[in-house]
Formats: sequence, C-alpha cells, structure tokens
Amino acid sequence: MVEIMKELCTGCGVCVRECPVRNLTLENEKASVKRSCMECGHCFAICPQKAINISDYPSDGIIEFENQTSLVDGEEFLRLIKSRRSIRDYQEKRIAKETWEKILEAGRFTATSGNGQDLKYVVVQNDLETVKNYVWDGFAALIEQLKKSKGSTSPLVRQLRSMNAAHLASRQDDRLFFNAPSLLVITSASPLDGGLAASNIELMAHAEGLGVLFSGFIQRALALSEDGCNYLRIEKTRICACMLLGYPNVEYRRSVPRRATQITWK
Ligand SMILES: Cc1cc2nc3c(=O)[nH]c(=O)nc-3n(C[C@H](O)[C@H](O)[C@H](O)COP(=O)(O)O)c2cc1C
Repeated sequence: MVEIMKELCTGCGVCVRECPVRNLTLENEKASVKRSCMECGHCFAICPQKAINISDYPSDGIIEFENQTSLVDGEEFLRLIKSRRSIRDYQEKRIAKETWEKILEAGRFTATSGNGQDLKYVVVQNDLETVKNYVWDGFAALIEQLKKSKGSTSPLVRQLRSMNAAHLASRQDDRLFFNAPSLLVITSASPLDGGLAASNIELMAHAEGLGVLFSGFIQRALALSEDGCNYLRIEKTRICACMLLGYPNVEYRRSVPRRATQITWK
C-alpha cells in the first residue's frame, strides 16, 4: 500500500504527475492516494522529500542517486554484454550464499508486467546430484517424445541420443550439466518476466566473475520429470529458465562475430 507521510509532503505534485495510473491527487496541498495500485514505486522513487512509503515491501536494496545521467558508462556496459559467453567448462568451486544473494538481486529489481513480481528462484547447489538424475530421466522421456514428433532419424533426436548414450557410458560425460556446480531454476506465470530477470541475472553473474549457461535442454527435460518438479516444488508450466552457474574454467581472448542487426527504420 502506498502511504503519504503528510508531515513530510510539501504538495509539490511531482508524484501526481509521475503516477502511471493517475492514482495520486493533491488534496489540501498534500499528495493523496485514491485507491490501491500496482505499487510500481515511481512515486517513492521521485519524491524529493522522501514522503512516500510502500508498506508491503521490505525496505532493503534501496539506493540513492546523485546524478541519473551517468550511472554506468554505455561503452563499458556494451563491453560487459559482448564479453559474456555461454560457459560449458567450470571450476570445482561453490558459489557463496552472499554471491547468490547479490546476483539474484538483479532479478528482483528487473521490470515485471503490471509490476507482478511473480517470480521464484530455486538455487540447486547442495542437491545437484539428485536433480541431475531427475533431469536425465526427463531427458530420456524428451528423446522418446521427439522421436514421435520428429522421427528417430531427425538431427535433433540423433544429437540427443548421442548425448544420452555418452552419459550412460560414462557419467563424467555430461553434456547437459557439463561440470557446473549449480543450477538456477526461474519460475513465473509470465515467460517474458522470467526471461528478463534471467538475462539481468546472467549479466550480473558475469560482472561478478561467474559464468552462466542457459540450458533449454535441461528446461525441457525437467518439465518432463514429474518427480523432479515435485522435488523442487515447482510447476512444470511455470519454468521460464534453467541456468547453470559457476566459476568459468575458460578465458576468452575476444568477443564473437554476430550477424548484422536486422532493423527496420520507419
Ligand atoms: C534460451 C537458451 C537456451 C539455451 N540452451 C542451451 C542448451 O541446452 N545447451 C547448450 O549447450 N547451450 C544452450 N544455449 C546457449 C546457446 O547455444 C548460446 O547462447 C549460443 O551458442 C551463442 O553463444 P554465446 O552465448 O556464448 O554468445 C542456450 C541459450 C539460450 C539463450
């Protein structure tokens, strides 16, 4: 609930102009809330007097800005994006809880549709071996499913069968999990909300010296493992992203080439 601390409010009207749903008004030269809203926090963020409180939320994580125009250098930010790689080789090193909390904060402060904030994170590090077994079971089910829909000689089915056979021959040959020390599962009713948070988490992890691999295969396999979903207490339809995380065991010397951006200017 948005609350106006009347004793601090000067009635400047900045919050009234900012509110995206026109939920604030000036009454007796003080801001006043009309009804409950999506609590986007814009009024809180813009108030020069700190006269606004959003009572339902924890107050941690708020930062003050001196100068909005130069938060991060654009060139440096692009450098971070270009230097990010999908990591398939990891050091045997756990990710500390504090580091997890730091990178998940990037997800917490990502935009969500209607400010729904309907995201959940499952960090699998201690029980990774259990989850791996569930996912490999789901992977076998995925192969059977794809055999029916695409035919057993399709390139994808061949690829997946080869991955499965290699893993059955040697558990060390794990082209699903590689040797990552952890798995992050992001769930939400909105795939876009989940994807946006995942992307920011990936960049934050990279900035913290971690490596990430988005795994569509793990995502599809996990969704086919009822036991795996029950174990993680997630609904298969809400899985938005499965990400492997760990400290990279590789170092890249340059960024990669990409196709030209396809832009339509109108
Ligand atoms: C949604 C998504 C799913 C992906 N799934 C897999 C996967 O299952 N296995 C894998 O090895 N890489 C996977 N990748 C990584 C892509 O193959 C990788 O992004 C691409 O090859 C470009 O390399 P880069 O990320 O280093 O730029 C996935 C990437 C995304 C965004």
